[in-house]
Amino acid sequence: MDYIKEFEKLVQGQLARVEKMKEDKEFIKYDALDKIIIGVIGGDGIGPAITAQAHRVLEFLLDKEVKANKVEFRVIDGCTIENRAAANKAIPDDVLVEIKKCHVLLKGPTTTPRKGDPWANVESANVAMRKELDLFANVRPVKVPELGIDWTFFRENTEDLYALGNQGMLIGDIAIDFKVITSPGTERIARAAFEFARNNGKKRVTIVTKANVVKTTDGKFLDICKQVGKEYPEIEVDDWYIDIMTAKLIDEKRRAQFEVLVLPNLYGDILTDEAAEFQGGVGTAGSANIGKRYAMFEAIHGSAPRMVEEGRDKYADPSSIIRAGAMLLSHIGFQKEADKLYKALEICTVTEKKKVITGRSDGATGSEFADYIMDTIQTL
Ligand code: IPM
Ligand code: MG
Repeated sequence: MDYIKEFEKLVQGQLARVEKMKEDKEFIKYDALDKIIIGVIGGDGIGPAITAQAHRVLEFLLDKEVKANKVEFRVIDGCTIENRAAANKAIPDDVLVEIKKCHVLLKGPTTTPRKGDPWANVESANVAMRKELDLFANVRPVKVPELGIDWTFFRENTEDLYALGNQGMLIGDIAIDFKVITSPGTERIARAAFEFARNNGKKRVTIVTKANVVKTTDGKFLDICKQVGKEYPEIEVDDWYIDIMTAKLIDEKRRAQFEVLVLPNLYGDILTDEAAEFQGGVGTAGSANIGKRYAMFEAIHGSAPRMVEEGRDKYADPSSIIRAGAMLLSHIGFQKEADKLYKALEICTVTEKKKVITGRSDGATGSEFADYIMDTIQTL
């Protein structure tokens, strides 16, 4: 292998991506569309079971719009690990074609093969979808009112160690991966974070990097975020290194001060798992992946294949993917419906809890839980 040539190819690919980013300026306007197409991707393991329940709830809330042909739901099959391994592709071509016909997507968990798994070591479907649809902002809210926690993470979603995550090089005894941070890639995530802060009355944006050590890439990320921050003089900007940031999230005196956090992909991956633990674990969090043309909403838990093997998928908890559905509603402009769904989720999972999911036959099924949510919405 000619490593220099390989490296040159990687750099060319990234330069082309930078040019493309510079061209894509405008966000899609959902209210200008004749019809919004919502794709529903079941995924693997418990994915199809829980996603079907979230789909029912969303159709229920958008019943009028569906009947008026203003909204269409499309179930997209085939994004399974079996098909992906057989095609040796992170997303099979025919599935990708269907996905690209939609405007927004609700996605169940997809299995990411690990070294040693029976599957071909294809790239994670999540990561591939984020890159393929250029879903650059991974927005992950974490709220625990009783602890004073109200954080919104803006994790950059297409760059950093993920950009070339499956294109590292083995050269003799050396393993090399590449970390890529670009100016337009950083500018757009920074702008998304500051705009969110401005529009939601937040007073502070916190930049998280390791720019003291990883000087070139994280240094650029930090500089550009600070630069963008200057356009938002009403918002205070601070910056922290990722190591101390992980500590400060558990510092009771400090943590309530953080509001909006903006960070490169991998630090964002790690820190958002830690953060979600405060509100009951990653299984309780929803996640929005937002780009200028597409957006995808997902639960951030895994596909729990063991539950399916044991015939328990119908008892799997759909609340996280339903929460992702609420984020989807809000994103495409149905804020009233989103608010109702958030309220119902709070009643059904925190305050009233008439039906409890345990993951086993002693608890409610996902379908019973979705019924409970819909009944509750009707009382609001
Ligand atoms: C997440 C997940 C993914 C990621 C995995 C499944 C590839 O951990 O959505 O946070 O690393 O982004
Ligand atoms: Mg993660």
